[in-house]
Amino acid sequence: FRCQSTSTDELKTKRNLLDNASNLLTNLLSGGRLGAMPVAEGAVSDLFDRPLFFSLYDWFLEHGAVYKLAFGPKAFVVVSDAVVARHILRENAFSYDKGVLADILEPIMGKGLIPADLDTWKLRRRVIAPGFHALYLEAMVKIFTNCSRRSISKFDELLERENLQGGKTIELDLEAEFSNLALDIIGLGVFNYEFGSVMKESPVIKAVYGTLFEAEHRSTFYIPYWKVPFMRWIVPRQRKFQNDLKVINDCLDGLIKNAKDTRQETDVEKLQQRDYSNLKDASLLRFLVDMRGADVDDRQLRDDLMTMLIAGHETTAAVLTWAVFLLAQNPSKMRKAQKEIDSVLGEGEPTYIRLIVVEALRLYPQPPLLIRRSLKSDKLPGGYNGNEDGYEIPVGTDIFISVYNLHRSPYFWDCPNEFEPERFLVEKKSEDIEGWDGFDPSRSPGALYPNEIISDFSFLPFGGGPRKCVGDQFALMESTVALAMLLQKFDVELKGSPESVELVTGATIHTKNGLWCKLRKRSHVH
Ligand code: HEM
Repeated sequence: FRCQSTSTDELKTKRNLLDNASNLLTNLLSGGRLGAMPVAEGAVSDLFDRPLFFSLYDWFLEHGAVYKLAFGPKAFVVVSDAVVARHILRENAFSYDKGVLADILEPIMGKGLIPADLDTWKLRRRVIAPGFHALYLEAMVKIFTNCSRRSISKFDELLERENLQGGKTIELDLEAEFSNLALDIIGLGVFNYEFGSVMKESPVIKAVYGTLFEAEHRSTFYIPYWKVPFMRWIVPRQRKFQNDLKVINDCLDGLIKNAKDTRQETDVEKLQQRDYSNLKDASLLRFLVDMRGADVDDRQLRDDLMTMLIAGHETTAAVLTWAVFLLAQNPSKMRKAQKEIDSVLGEGEPTYIRLIVVEALRLYPQPPLLIRRSLKSDKLPGGYNGNEDGYEIPVGTDIFISVYNLHRSPYFWDCPNEFEPERFLVEKKSEDIEGWDGFDPSRSPGALYPNEIISDFSFLPFGGGPRKCVGDQFALMESTVALAMLLQKFDVELKGSPESVELVTGATIHTKNGLWCKLRKRSHVH
């Protein structure tokens, strides 16, 4: 669901369509079946006046940690509690699938890990997850550094040009810059393809952005008209989408063919010990193709690559965008980060930068909602809002786990809406919350970044349980490197007021018109 300002006519048409659609929907949940669950009555206008997750937050404060959201005959259960999230994502994970999300993503990602049915997922997860091993990630850090350096050089050149005309700052849409950077990184890291999008445009780049745009449209449009076969060919945006998909698929097919033609079949253990420092192609595709016994048809491989391209691109760009947005409003924290960068350069650990990255993910989780549908009946744990017993969940119930609500829950966080990276250093006990084990870093020794284990599912930036993100460490390191390299060289300020940065959401939370910033060279770079 995306909500953003729209013209009145457009709004009316959408509302009519929605009202009609909701009457036609067959997947009905009657109020009685979800027992005594509190009900939030959503008006259709809630879908359009502002991002849905804002309304979900208000209803969370009003109705509690588990409530039913009814839009006409359609209902969703909205979960904002760590113990219930842990139950759905980990303890009873295989009683749920991706529901609405899989319906939306399947035409783009096919049987890739995110929308995959359970059988395909089991096979492919076992093959893909080992690809993100320690030496691979180390090789990726080089790619993160090289690609970030390209962005920095571009900003440097723009500044130099400005200096010649007497100016000291440049104005840039950093969201667009981060998006290009993340695309270049994911291309090289996943299939050794040089998009080069920081410096130029190309048909493949345009096709990737076109596909993302369509994925977002689908996640915000209530009626899946694109499933009607002829619609693909008569609706112009659907025709364009088919063309975009073809451009990317042709590109991926070429890369897969090339990787297969140069295949060097070997065991997983050997692949994980390869001399990655001297490898020309360290990509995940190389790993997947070379793995002995992992014969897979080209279609599946293409779905896997497409999934990782989409999953790993906008998400990371969004983390960087919101980290800068938050830092620009907190100059003392920006200085603290820069001081750390100056002192650890070359060696040492960028602890504070890591905390900034995770704090940005706490306040702006990507995606803000995790979507599930129950495959069997289930019983959710109780213990919140005076509900001791928990609720019965019938088969076919659609569930939103609102990570946004959980990350800003006053039950789990002090000053939940404040940007406070230091909060992750403080242990939190859990006397008040039944079944929640508190926030304790010793639970995940050696973890460089706070995670769902340390927080006992109150912090879910990458989900949790068996379907947790496979690219979490990749993304965290990428964001840390890119942010550190930017702040090392530049001071960043917002161009307008923070309020003027409007939010929109599709799969990720992003800005409506870009994150326009002023960049100035730092005067004391060590
Ligand atoms: C799954 C977040 C980067 C690949 C997920 C999920 C979340 C997430 C929350 C779980 C979805 C669910 O349970 O419904 C993020 C964020 C990222 C990021 C916030 C960046 C900051 C990446 C990258 C890759 C990737 C870089 C690949 C290179 C995947 C895949 C899955 C996934 C394949 C599906 C896993 C499965 O179902 O087994 N991601 N992700 N993600 N992510 Fe990420």
